[in-house]
Amino acid sequence: MHGIWGSRWTFILAATGSAVGLGNIWKFPYITGENGGGAFVLMYLVCILIAGVPVMMAEVLLGRKGRMSPIHTMQALARENNAPRLFSGIGWMGAVSGFFILSFYSVIAGWTLAYVGKLASGEFAGATGEVAKASFGGLLSDPWMLLGLHTFFMLMTGFVIARGVKHGLEDSVRLLMPMLFLMLILLLGYSITTPGFVQGWDFLFTFDFSKLTTHSVVVALGHAFFTLSLGMGAIMAYGAYMPAQASLGKTILAVAFLDTLVALVAGLIIFPIVFSHGLEPASGPGLIFQTLPIAFGALPGGTLIGTVFFVLVVIAAWSSAISIAEPAVAWAVENGFSRAKATFGVCFLAWLLGIGSVLSFNDWGDEQFFVTETIATTVADASTGEEIQSSESVFHLYANTTELNAEPLADGAERSVKGKTFFDLLDFITANVMMPLGGVFIAIFVGWFMSRESVAAEARVKSPLLFNIWRFMVRYISPVAIFIIFVEGLS
Ligand code: TRP
Repeated sequence: MHGIWGSRWTFILAATGSAVGLGNIWKFPYITGENGGGAFVLMYLVCILIAGVPVMMAEVLLGRKGRMSPIHTMQALARENNAPRLFSGIGWMGAVSGFFILSFYSVIAGWTLAYVGKLASGEFAGATGEVAKASFGGLLSDPWMLLGLHTFFMLMTGFVIARGVKHGLEDSVRLLMPMLFLMLILLLGYSITTPGFVQGWDFLFTFDFSKLTTHSVVVALGHAFFTLSLGMGAIMAYGAYMPAQASLGKTILAVAFLDTLVALVAGLIIFPIVFSHGLEPASGPGLIFQTLPIAFGALPGGTLIGTVFFVLVVIAAWSSAISIAEPAVAWAVENGFSRAKATFGVCFLAWLLGIGSVLSFNDWGDEQFFVTETIATTVADASTGEEIQSSESVFHLYANTTELNAEPLADGAERSVKGKTFFDLLDFITANVMMPLGGVFIAIFVGWFMSRESVAAEARVKSPLLFNIWRFMVRYISPVAIFIIFVEGLS
């Protein structure tokens, strides 16, 4: 046995600690920027409601019923319920995606560590958009610096995991999550006073569906899973430590609500600053690192507030990182390893893989996967003189994009190259493929292979109506919705 959370509240805090992290403060704003704003936000909210919340309840339920690491829990429950062996694979896939996610999560968390130092040194006092941009660019182009930060964050993560979830985490989360909320509210107060607030608000909440592509819908679904830590066993592992008598529904709703609130507030802080300073909302993973320093630079006492803020983001990332590793660590412990050895093994492998993400932002930036090369040609029709445009796309599984761009082209032709770096690839495969897939299997398993009675008993149902609604969602709505979005996105 791995121990039990002190109370329902401890579970809420730990699950919120897992859910609220870089996903809310770093990823949500930047993918919203890249996917055109409001319509994307709406899709994300819909995905949270129809897929995220029901699957989260199902996943925690499985964890509490099995009371083991996700791998062993799924093996035992699949056998017990006469489900195909395939379902015992959910746990395995989760452990593998945990390595992938932890590897790049730690690299990005390293950036936030760097920003604690940058802000504390007063680097951004009175900074313009240019200064903030150059500072970020400088950080990314330094692989050794990134590696050092990545290493430091992984050590922090390993330290808490090795001590066991209870003593390592409970106390820090209890104190620090409320502080993070306070800081966000303070920053929101600042962003309301900026001239770009209305524009930022409109960007987030005006639904222009012409900007929505199939790809954005897939990203919205993937993010709903990522931000709630779903589909790979993290929240299942936490569910395994949940007290037996606590009711699932209310608990999970509280966690999902807090998580969504933090993401929306982060968006409301960042976009007004983006628009007030003429920055680009679609600037990708660097978005918060190029906007927030400007706000701190302009605020009285900004050096102190900014430092504290990034410290809190580090802590939010920290409490999330721990949950990403938990499924694999718990499994190793069940197989006879000491907690310390298990932690070391998991963190070391993820650290090693993380080097690929470190290099994605500098030395390996050109080495890309899933590269689509599009060549557009414009020729004048010989008889009429009219311009005829045509375009042709070639797909490369892997290519060096600089070399590709350097290949000679015919006159009047233009080439555009779009691919994924190693970091992009891991992010895409985990959030947009593995986690939704895990989610479908979890929903189908709980909805179709477990009996209504055993599910109801485990959920400690208080309201039969709400239970029926949830069960209907898990049986029909969630798996079908995830499946459709998933297949659409791959085609
Ligand atoms: N939800 C966290 C965030 O938004 C990240 C996270 C924690 C996670 N545990 C996870 C993501 C498990 C995927 C799977 O930052």
